[in-house]
Amino acid sequence: MLPSRSFVFCLLSPSSKRTNICFPGVTMATNKGKPVALVTGGGSGIGRATAVRFAELGYSCVVADINEPSAKETLRMLQTPGIAVQVDVTMATSVEAMVTAAVQHFGRIDCAFNGAGIEGTTPARIADTPVDEFDRVMGVNAKGVWLCLKYEIAQMLQQEPVMSDPAKWADKPDVCRFRGVRGSIVNASSQAGLQSFPLYSPYCASKWAVLGLTQTAAVEYAKEGIRVNAICPGLVATPMHDRLKEKSPPAFSERLDSVHPVGRIATPEEVAQAVCWLCSDACPFTTGEHLKISGGL
Ligand SMILES: NC(=O)c1ccc[n+]([C@@H]2O[C@H](COP(=O)([O-])OP(=O)(O)OC[C@H]3O[C@@H](n4cnc5c(N)ncnc54)[C@H](O)[C@@H]3O)[C@@H](O)[C@H]2O)c1
Repeated sequence: MLPSRSFVFCLLSPSSKRTNICFPGVTMATNKGKPVALVTGGGSGIGRATAVRFAELGYSCVVADINEPSAKETLRMLQTPGIAVQVDVTMATSVEAMVTAAVQHFGRIDCAFNGAGIEGTTPARIADTPVDEFDRVMGVNAKGVWLCLKYEIAQMLQQEPVMSDPAKWADKPDVCRFRGVRGSIVNASSQAGLQSFPLYSPYCASKWAVLGLTQTAAVEYAKEGIRVNAICPGLVATPMHDRLKEKSPPAFSERLDSVHPVGRIATPEEVAQAVCWLCSDACPFTTGEHLKISGGL
């Protein structure tokens, strides 16, 4: 399905501002043009910081979010060509159209960060949690990631594998990297995907689900040169964190920021660095993994 004209609402091509790929010591996947990164949840927090970091590294970016103005705002921060796309990750047609828009503009998708997520509106123990809260949170955080994987992987399977630096691998055995990589995906799980998260059971369930999806997709597509990993951040200073603190009971809120042994919460930029590293050729043998970014928790 092709996106309607209004669907892709912004395209920037500041060719004069293009930067070269500059990840120290790391060869990034390249193709004829710039590598292309797609970021869902790109209008805020971790997604925005990740789009900005991808652009700093020379990627063309597809900034996708349900919130159109915020996606456009992120786009204005980028140094490389990009488009902003409105997407609702809970809807198959919308996710498919997002991928189509990316390919129409840039020809392929080298990396994707599936960062769109919600925390839920009603902190409560399970017996007091409304049923539709569970459906809503699982819809965005779990089904949304599944839909993104489905359409991103379908596109990546059609792409020619890319060898970033054949000379570097010439004397190596015929490993996957040497044959070339079709794409790399990182999903947003959470520290709450590794342990309990009292009062936020739908969120907790959705983030455990993301790890199951990540490992399954990684195994299903490993031989085709598609890597799939996840990040598990602790608390990160984003609008979601602010909402969590505001909504939760005072005793809970007060404890939130002091749970990390390092004594502070993360910045979105710190998480973005990890996402871009996992997407890059720095870790070609890493797939089906989750990376904890939680200050020692
Ligand atoms: N902030 C934290 O402490 C923290 C910790 C661990 C994991 N995470 C995860 O990281 C990801 C990013 O979180 P954040 O803190 O940047 O949150 P955020 O609220 O700042 O950003 C989330 C973005 O997702 C978008 N979004 C929501 N529903 C959507 C939908 N249906 N379709 C498309 N986009 C949608 C929002 O518009 C928003 O721009 C989330 O998956 C979150 O669960 C966050």
